[in-house]
Amino acid sequence: MNNSLPKLLLVFLLLTFSGFSVVAEEDIHVNPHWSKTKDQCLACHEHIPKRGGKLHLRFDGNINTLCNHCHSEISKDKYIHASGMIAPQTMVDKMPEEFRSGLDDDGRITCAVCHNMTYQCLSEEFGRKEENILFHRGAPFEKRTELCYNCHEPSAYKKMNPHDQINDEGELNTDICTYCHAILPDRRNVKSIADVSFKFDNFDMLCLRCHTDDAYAVGCVIGYEKGGNPIYHSGRPDEGMSGRIETHQEGAILPLDIVTGKIFCGTCHNPHELGVQRRSEADAGADSHKRLRISKMNSGICLGCHDAKEIKQFQLP
Ligand code: HEC
Ligand code: HEC
Ligand code: HEC
Ligand code: HEC
Ligand code: HEC
Ligand code: HEC
Ligand code: HEC
Ligand code: HEC
Repeated sequence: MNNSLPKLLLVFLLLTFSGFSVVAEEDIHVNPHWSKTKDQCLACHEHIPKRGGKLHLRFDGNINTLCNHCHSEISKDKYIHASGMIAPQTMVDKMPEEFRSGLDDDGRITCAVCHNMTYQCLSEEFGRKEENILFHRGAPFEKRTELCYNCHEPSAYKKMNPHDQINDEGELNTDICTYCHAILPDRRNVKSIADVSFKFDNFDMLCLRCHTDDAYAVGCVIGYEKGGNPIYHSGRPDEGMSGRIETHQEGAILPLDIVTGKIFCGTCHNPHELGVQRRSEADAGADSHKRLRISKMNSGICLGCHDAKEIKQFQLP
């Protein structure tokens, strides 16, 4: 409390005197990465540094603040790994030296642990862009989980199955519910997705933190970006589709993101174990083939929204 007033004053003075025109003009939507012109270097550096010299990073060299000053806004719907937490010692010991160098002075995870910023700084490294547009350390990977296993134990990671929700005695494993839900859902009174709460605002993140390299089926993904990143199905059904959802549901639901009205992983896949849901429509698809809420036979799940003409172009596996 005592500290915040002088800090605010300082920020005010800095904004007023030093970089006012820069601040006023800065557009967080201009991509500063892999820039061939020097002006974009100043999105991150106060002065352009020399190799091996002082970095002159903005925001007192706090990398997470630097990145989030743009990305908390422009990437709010994307999967971004958490940062700012102190890596446990066992993890620090396991990490390759290169990753360790991205931790801050207090041993916290920064964006630069996984993203090697120098790749997009130095023109002699720009050749990497084609295969590694996200400037990941150690990329390109065969599978994205290779990056994860620099820090996480593959065995611990694979064992965790949050779809295992009823134990051998037939009791509900309520601990697992709050892996995705913010508050344990009240199964008796819940009538739809609108009555439960979640740990993430971006619902795809509930799933993508584990399904990093197996959510590539036609349906999960509707195409790929230039850099090879998947484009997940995430549009908002139009009126025609909404009508179809109503008529096609046949004892199943195709729930949409409550806030945005968009499709997410849980629209097509039921993440629960069979029997967890009291409402039979919400139970449909649990533990079925690939947890699909409506069977993919004759493209049934796709016809939930698309008409028969449209789906002729989709080759389901
Ligand atoms: C998105 C932010 C960002 C942009 C844009 C950026 N840099 Fe950097 N730069 C960094 C960060 C962060 C580091 C420190 C990386 C580290 O230590 O892991 C760095 C490091 C450097 C280094 C030190 C490398 C070394 O090996 O000592 C140089 C030189 C550099 N940048 C030059 C540039 C130039 C030139 C540009 C413009 C073409 C540029 N940077 C654009 C964030 C950026
Ligand atoms: C001045 C604003 C700004 C800053 C600061 C910034 N970025 Fe970006 N970044 C962008 C924009 C704009 C894009 C393009 C996003 C898009 O097209 O969806 C982008 C894209 C990216 C991408 C995807 C690669 C690409 O070229 O599309 C990564 C990864 C990324 N940023 C990481 C970082 C990291 C890590 C930092 C901090 C060291 C950082 N950014 C700092 C604005 C910024
Ligand atoms: C533990 C590793 C890790 C850390 C830490 C990390 N990232 Fe990433 N980042 C990734 C991976 C892996 C992807 C690719 C995600 C994908 O393919 O969906 C990615 C993708 C991105 C993208 C592109 C998103 C898109 O889908 O276009 C941006 C932008 C980005 N990261 C920014 C950041 C910023 C900013 C930070 C720090 C606040 C950060 N990352 C911290 C691993 C990391
Ligand atoms: C540089 C080390 C590092 C890398 C690489 C890394 N992580 Fe993490 N991750 C951490 C740390 C530190 C935590 C904090 C939790 C802890 O203390 O174990 C964490 C936590 C998590 C969590 C738990 C948070 C939650 O939402 O429940 C998930 C899931 C996760 N990471 C997924 C991934 C994925 C997927 C990748 C690869 C794309 C990855 N991590 C790569 C360091 C890393
Ligand atoms: C892997 C993530 C995940 C886990 C774990 C999880 N849920 Fe859910 N849950 C969701 C998602 C996503 C939805 C929204 C889609 C839906 O309605 O099924 C949801 C919805 C629900 C609903 C509302 C269903 C409806 O439409 O009527 C109930 C009730 C519920 N969950 C109970 C539970 C209980 C009880 C547990 C623990 C045994 C649990 N969930 C564990 C992701 C999860
Ligand atoms: C903590 C990690 C974790 C999270 C989070 C998670 N899953 Fe899973 N999921 C698993 C594991 C483990 C399996 C078991 C089968 C396997 O190894 O692929 C699985 C299986 C599946 C399958 C069946 C795959 C197959 O080949 O049969 C689907 C579909 C699926 N999950 C969807 C989801 C959806 C949708 C969410 C989010 C609502 C989600 N998962 C969240 C770990 C996770
Ligand atoms: C529009 C419907 C739809 C959406 C949305 C969707 N999927 Fe899928 N998913 C499918 C279909 C169809 C399959 C393929 C079933 C098969 O192989 O028989 C599938 C397969 C999978 C599998 C099993 C992959 C395998 O190789 O067997 C996983 C895991 C999965 N999806 C996860 C996800 C995740 C995570 C998301 C969100 C990012 C997602 N899905 C979004 C329809 C969807
Ligand atoms: C809940 C409604 C819904 C379901 C179910 C659904 N889709 Fe979609 N689909 C959409 C919407 C909305 C779009 C608009 C684009 C977007 O997602 O950004 C779309 C777009 C697409 C596209 C891109 C078309 C284009 O012209 O760019 C493909 C491909 C696609 N869907 C395939 C499938 C497949 C395959 C299935 C079945 C596994 C399926 N969809 C099930 C709603 C749905």
